[in-house]
Amino acid sequence: MESITFRRPVDLHVHFRDGAILDAVVPFTARQFARAIVMPNLSPPVTTAAMAQAYRQRILAAVPDGLDFTPMMTCYLTDQTDVADLLAGYRDGIFAAAKLYPAHATTNAQFGVTSIAALDPVFVAMADAGMPLLTHGELVRHDVDIFDREQCFLDEVLAPLLERHPTLRLVLEHITTSEGAAFATRYGSRVAATITPQHLLYNRNALFEGGLRPHLYCLPILKRQHHQSALRAAATSGLPNFFLGTDTAPHMRELKEAACGCAGVFSAPVAVQAYLSVFDQEAALDKFEAFAALNGPAFYGFAPAERQVTYVRQLHAVEPSLSVENDEIVPLFGGGSVDWTLRQQV
Ligand code: DOR
Ligand code: ZN
Repeated sequence: MESITFRRPVDLHVHFRDGAILDAVVPFTARQFARAIVMPNLSPPVTTAAMAQAYRQRILAAVPDGLDFTPMMTCYLTDQTDVADLLAGYRDGIFAAAKLYPAHATTNAQFGVTSIAALDPVFVAMADAGMPLLTHGELVRHDVDIFDREQCFLDEVLAPLLERHPTLRLVLEHITTSEGAAFATRYGSRVAATITPQHLLYNRNALFEGGLRPHLYCLPILKRQHHQSALRAAATSGLPNFFLGTDTAPHMRELKEAACGCAGVFSAPVAVQAYLSVFDQEAALDKFEAFAALNGPAFYGFAPAERQVTYVRQLHAVEPSLSVENDEIVPLFGGGSVDWTLRQQV
């Protein structure tokens, strides 16, 4: 197949940050995607409908003229979440979902939830309203190995939570294991999962290939090869439980190449191309539109894009870095190339 045409895709998991970084990165997502679900882990986090509305305006102001792009906002759950504000925000179309960060699990998760069971009243209200819960699915505890955090979270936290709340709808964000993929299908249509390009492209060997590779460090961390294979099978299965969510997470080079570096892969400039190469390798390009443009909207309950895009099989150089203020951000494949090029939007 020398070209592929599909409905404009949707990125169900992005980090835009704020300020100068936001201005620099939003155009990359807006060029390739019709919509995105925007993560709320700013500092301070986006915890109220008013904060989300203001953040949404700052994102829209960074969208280049002529591009049709809709950011969809999420609420950062904390031990103090105000249920009334959360539900009003959902009812008014400001919040598309709420995001659960277990305390200290990742970037800016120091504001996260310390006792998940204590949020049961919030989950009851969300289940009643049909509001999806998005989870960063890692159990962060000193006695749990970092490579086992996802499976422990599924077994010890999420399975009981889904039993306590039989109608709650859940997205396991950025799954990284075969257990995560199996979990997403076990509960039928009420549980789904996003999968990032890096977890499809790489396994944990890539983190150490010829030396330490900080730009491939993200959370949840890359896992063993058999998990990568399970994720590839899930993404290309065509099942409605799996959809595109890049987890594009820009950090300044200085903070990535550091003694204690930040987690996150900035994939926005090459996201669609990265997924296309995986689907191509798996001989599953016929399943791409479902994963990238249909399954996510169906789960969230909004219409897929009407417009289409065409990507052609044509080598395309990737900029080594993006300048932001006095530093720069290194993208996935920076300085290299991708096999697909965006040709036209209809
Ligand atoms: O690698 C990651 N980076 N994982 C996350 O969960 C958060 C993200 C970020 O915001 O930097
Ligand atoms: Zn994320």
